[in-house]
Amino acid sequence: MDREEIFSQIQKTFQLEPLLRLQEELLGKKGKLTQALRKIPSLPPEERAAEGQRLNLLKKEVQEALAKKSQDLENKSNQDQSLEYFDVTLPGKKPPIGTGTLHPITQMRQKAEEIFQLMGFEIVEPREVDDDYHVFESLNIPPGHPARDMWDTFWTEQGHIPITHTSSMQNRVLTSRKPPIRAIIPGKCFRHEATDSRHEHTFYQIEGVLVDKNITLTDLIGTLVTFMEAFYEKKIRYKIQPSYFPFVEPGLEFLIECVICQGKGCSTCGRSGWLELVPCGPIHPKVMEMANLDQEKYSGFAWGLGLDRLVMIKYGIEDIRRFHSGDLRFLGQF
Ligand code: DAH
Repeated sequence: MDREEIFSQIQKTFQLEPLLRLQEELLGKKGKLTQALRKIPSLPPEERAAEGQRLNLLKKEVQEALAKKSQDLENKSNQDQSLEYFDVTLPGKKPPIGTGTLHPITQMRQKAEEIFQLMGFEIVEPREVDDDYHVFESLNIPPGHPARDMWDTFWTEQGHIPITHTSSMQNRVLTSRKPPIRAIIPGKCFRHEATDSRHEHTFYQIEGVLVDKNITLTDLIGTLVTFMEAFYEKKIRYKIQPSYFPFVEPGLEFLIECVICQGKGCSTCGRSGWLELVPCGPIHPKVMEMANLDQEKYSGFAWGLGLDRLVMIKYGIEDIRRFHSGDLRFLGQF
């Protein structure tokens, strides 16, 4: 085993693959050094110790030289790559997970907007942060009113409110327009919630407001049924039950037969066969009054539907927290 020759061979190797081959030739199972080491026990006893020491040292040095050379070659190849000619006119590489898509909530908000626009509604944007008057007082919820407990509100240090519901825009819409008024207000809402699979601190609503002459409950029901059938792209069965909100009189809840189990009862509808989808009702006389609307002439209705829930039901999504998870495996499905 000629020491000089081994090191000069390592020195003369300038690529990774031949270096690996050389390593195999020397240190592999049938490598020269390995073989030589194996032969030690068969040497005359007086030579064994010295030869063993020499070969083990040589082996160690060879291993080190190979490792260093391999590291040098790798560094050099990285440098070379960064100097490579780069054609800026080539199309971009496809990202590993594909291009992004619109968030399912955005897609379905757009679908809902299209449906309501076809029905003659305009789209109004809410303020993300509003004041007490618009979030509560103008909706017949004065300070100290127990109904305020229905909303787990965040307050800013200046006393403003990240809106707890899109109803915050009712008064503005009603005072800035003349009847006939037809508006939807899709927006992001915030509540001080303990989150679980059905509650989020940030969620979406689509408020609806309509004021005109001769408006009755059947107009409200007809509007919601038309919307739901267009949104779910199928005939629906529905019912109305009493509820309570200070800004509608009477307060109502619009329910549809569960579109997942067809009314048989499943986990989504809490085994009842029905989905409570839209709280709504004729606009309360006090709210009309605060918006200076002539109640001899006009009447109207309002609703506030939860967009997240609508989308969850459409796609069979079981946990509302997925929407804000940022999990691309979830988002990539829409
Ligand atoms: N703002 C209510 C909430 O978030 C929902 C609501 C109920 C809106 C009845 C309405 C309505 O416009 O008429 O809890």
